[in-house]
Amino acid sequence: MIQEIIELAQGLDSKSPSFQSDCFSRLKTLNIDLSLEEFNSELAHWLTTSSLPTQLNVYNNFGQPPVTLFHNESFVIDLYFWLYSDTSIHTHSFTGAFKVLYGQSQQDIYQIIEKKKYTNDISLNDINIIDSKILIKGECQEITRGDQFCHRVLHLDSPTITLCIRTINDKHIPQRHQFENGLSILKVELEETIYKQIFFYEYLLSQSQKMAKTFLNGIIEKSSPSLIMNLFEAVLSGSLGLADESIEVFHHTIIKKFQKEEWFTYYLEACEA
Ligand SMILES: [Fe+2]
Repeated sequence: MIQEIIELAQGLDSKSPSFQSDCFSRLKTLNIDLSLEEFNSELAHWLTTSSLPTQLNVYNNFGQPPVTLFHNESFVIDLYFWLYSDTSIHTHSFTGAFKVLYGQSQQDIYQIIEKKKYTNDISLNDINIIDSKILIKGECQEITRGDQFCHRVLHLDSPTITLCIRTINDKHIPQRHQFENGLSILKVELEETIYKQIFFYEYLLSQSQKMAKTFLNGIIEKSSPSLIMNLFEAVLSGSLGLADESIEVFHHTIIKKFQKEEWFTYYLEACEA
């Protein structure tokens, strides 16, 4: 079965204008007749006996876990195991399609209209649900780049397993993280530099709180608000493994920096909801 999924990539061209619909039709024709237990067991065998392709996400919690089955530097075939519901409303920087292999999900599609722009990467939007349906086992959905396709996929079963064919390295159209109260913050991939900076901040904190705070404020000043807010979420989620004190000082610094900004009030409101 895994081999059959990997073979979906044959002849697919991510530069083709029909890539999105090609992904959709290939996923549509894929027929998985294994029980969940058989599927899990086949993947367990593949993970321990194959040479894995480069993984698109190693630590990322988009999927618990995400597993890249195929990677050719221009698109990937990814499996996502969902144990928890993903509640984020978002647009996509990439294109492709996904299929529900096991379980089911509720998909809400939103129309978003910009109401106020705070910065290049943070805005307030009017958002309205324009379509809502249950994606049962076997259903496929095309993924269109940009603001014209904004969705939330609530995974109703645990696990729900989805299979996605999608482009990578898409730099031109940013992905939007849309909050229900209208606030929108662009998604920024955290790269090596910012990780090293934040880990060095933690080291400095063990030496001198004053130096650490100065260093941290320097990072914030030089970075876009969206980068800082994406970092803020990663730090607070615990996924960077920072010590409690480092998280607390970081948290306090961000609050102090942005508390007078209207968009930050919306952010705090969204977090409390
Ligand atoms: Fe999505």
